[in-house]
Amino acid sequence: MTFLELLFLLLVGYYFIYVIFWLILDCNLGLWYTSYFGLSVSSMRGQVVWVTGASSGIGRALSLVFAKYGVRLVISARRENLLESLKKDCLERSNGLLSERDVLILPMDMLMVSVHEDCFESVLKHFGRLDVLVNNAGRSQRASWEEIAVQVDRDLFELDVFSVINLSRIVVRYFLKQAGGHGHIVVTSSIAGFCAVPFSATYCAAKSAINAYLNTLRMEHRNIDVTTFCPGPVATDFLQEAFTSEPEKKYGRSTANQKRMSAERCGALFAASIANKLDLAWCGLFPLMGNSTMNKIREGKL
Ligand SMILES: NC(=O)c1ccc[n+]([C@@H]2O[C@H](COP(=O)([O-])OP(=O)(O)OC[C@H]3O[C@@H](n4cnc5c(N)ncnc54)[C@H](OP(=O)(O)O)[C@@H]3O)[C@@H](O)[C@H]2O)c1
Repeated sequence: MTFLELLFLLLVGYYFIYVIFWLILDCNLGLWYTSYFGLSVSSMRGQVVWVTGASSGIGRALSLVFAKYGVRLVISARRENLLESLKKDCLERSNGLLSERDVLILPMDMLMVSVHEDCFESVLKHFGRLDVLVNNAGRSQRASWEEIAVQVDRDLFELDVFSVINLSRIVVRYFLKQAGGHGHIVVTSSIAGFCAVPFSATYCAAKSAINAYLNTLRMEHRNIDVTTFCPGPVATDFLQEAFTSEPEKKYGRSTANQKRMSAERCGALFAASIANKLDLAWCGLFPLMGNSTMNKIREGKL
């Protein structure tokens, strides 16, 4: 066998194994490996992590994983009653690693950017520091491309992009000036931010935009860690809350009985990707195979 033939064989072997793993795993290979052999989430014990959109779904599941390993938490969203019950669950899950003071409930409407600075001051006043900001709050969309009102484009970008960037800038300035130039910014993006999916034009554009914003942050400040986490379909209240083509109208459907990754599994993978400061990670139950298959997957019909 010549050297070139051997090289070719190794290359084919590598891609074969890669595709096999891609088909059987529920996340990218790097994240899967890291979740078993990388740093445990317990390495973050004592750090302060701020999770937005913590009242339900992925943000709630992520907060519970952090609590289990003694990571101190700031939990934000609009529904204060759900944050109260999450705090109770976090303290229970921490099994004594966290005390009452270690979980701060910080109600906040992400859209009210004028209060972001004050909210951050409350975090510093309470904990004296912040190590990681997890920008998780967000809403999806179901709408035909040609029917979307421009006001919906604006509203979705306000929540999924501009509010995230505003809060991140406040925190990045703190990392640069008061935290020795170090810190960690995380965003819950989506596979839809990399690979267009039908009937979510504004959402795909918004998640692509957030990816681009964070990629440039990563280039400009090498000491600041940036994690872009991209779930595929996950079983949450996501479809209930999704934007449509008309302003103020929600999609209002449930994900019950759909084949989706559980929020708990997603939260565990998300926490592993943060603990290991992965630049980019994705998870989902299926490989993505083209438009119509992609749509069936996200509607839980495949
Ligand atoms: N589920 C999926 O299939 C999926 C897939 C890819 C990416 N994602 C991303 O995952 C993130 C979380 O979504 P999820 O699936 O967990 O859905 P979810 O259960 O509906 O959670 C959304 C969270 O965002 C918060 N939120 C919404 N509007 C807000 C606002 N104006 N101000 C503050 N908080 C607000 C909600 O809290 P309040 O209503 O209490 O304010 C809630 O805690 C989103 O960024 C989404 O794009 C989800």
